[in-house]
Amino acid sequence: MKKLVIEGGKPLHGTVKISGAKNAALPLMAATLLAPGVHILNNVPDLRDTRTILRLLESLGLTWEREGSTLRIDGTGLKYSEASYELVKTMRASVLVLGPLLARLGRAKVSLPGGCAIGARPINFHLMGFEQLGVQCDLEGGYVDAISPGRLQGNNVYFDIPSVTGTENILMAATLAEGTTIIKNAAKEPEIGNLIDMLCSMGANIEGKGSDRLEIQGVEKLTAAESRIIPDRIEAGTYAIAVAATGGDAIIQNCDPSHLPSLVDKLRLAGVEVEVGEDFLHILAEEKKTQIKAVDVTTLPYPGYPTDLQAQFMALMTGSNGVSVIHETIFENRFMHVAELQRMGADIKIDGRIAMVKGRSGLPLTGAQVMATDLRASSSLVIAGLAASGRTDISRIYHLERGYEDIVGKLSGLGATVWKEDE
Ligand code: EPZ
Repeated sequence: MKKLVIEGGKPLHGTVKISGAKNAALPLMAATLLAPGVHILNNVPDLRDTRTILRLLESLGLTWEREGSTLRIDGTGLKYSEASYELVKTMRASVLVLGPLLARLGRAKVSLPGGCAIGARPINFHLMGFEQLGVQCDLEGGYVDAISPGRLQGNNVYFDIPSVTGTENILMAATLAEGTTIIKNAAKEPEIGNLIDMLCSMGANIEGKGSDRLEIQGVEKLTAAESRIIPDRIEAGTYAIAVAATGGDAIIQNCDPSHLPSLVDKLRLAGVEVEVGEDFLHILAEEKKTQIKAVDVTTLPYPGYPTDLQAQFMALMTGSNGVSVIHETIFENRFMHVAELQRMGADIKIDGRIAMVKGRSGLPLTGAQVMATDLRASSSLVIAGLAASGRTDISRIYHLERGYEDIVGKLSGLGATVWKEDE
């Protein structure tokens, strides 16, 4: 296995180009199951997770080819409807094939994803939604075996919690159902808007984009189309926080600042200057490293502060001049990065879903050997290592490679001293 080595203490300068969003690419790639023909997806990041879902699509009978960041996926050859445990256990987002398979074949057998480091992450809302659409879901042997007696039937679906992939799964299934489906308390993340745009370009009839009420008029069939993946707001936010934490001055290019409303406000509250452009953020934090203000954060569904940027912001708060209260309301165990940050000298106390971070008033953390536990926790350790004095070795970086394209190249381009080596 590889580890990431960082010589910390260097402010980040220059420009970093943001890739397409992992959490848009995964549902949009799953949506190619809905129609035969060659789907063209532009700005697709090359990540462990996008490579995993391509293997899954192949196992279902689809073919694909990649040319740079453009993927051409041919949905014609779909013939199987089973997603194996081997594939699903490495990436829970594999459950996103359930909706399209049920819509196109009326049958899907997908391994239950099981828990992950950040929580149990059940899919009960997905299954409830499918049952509302007339699907019979049987759970046995760690698999969900879903069968629809005929064409899916449109219906009302209400989510107790605005589940992101739950909304995406039901949305995709409803496009080919008979009649109208209304999803209430739908998630409103920008990635869902990206999926809606793709589905409509394929011939779907969907109203309510950007709201928590989606109305889908089922159609007889869909056709392949060309789409573009939106910029990765979580990657952009991660680099913005890294520039702030190292007291640097850099441009986060090819992003969509309108997808990061809460982060921009939080960085400004922390005393960081943020210039917002059409497709860039300019983070000016030189000489600010010792004046970062403590800021409280509560994670919420979009447009609230994203849970996927909680660990990264905590790394910034370890250097603040006060106490920051961080409340993680989405997942029950998303503080795996805390123990590792503490090994670097961070003063953090956890009480359930609340973490209290006592900043070191600009006194840098000290580099250490730390271990990545999940995707966003590992990016938090990268930020801490960049800001810390001395060397930080981060092991198990396959977690990081799931969601950050060319992180060594991008960080080096910002002036960081970082490399990979065998553990
Ligand atoms: C998506 O996961 C993202 N993944 C996650 O990003 C992100 O953290 C999460 O949304 C929240 O924004 C993708 O889009 C591929 P949820 P998802 O269903 O859809 C509970 C990353 O780092 N819940 O919105 O799985 C669940 O346990 C990843 O890129 C149920 O109880 O999240 C959680 O507490 C990590 N039953 C809450 O709802 C269900 O059926 C929100 O989960 C579904 C969810």
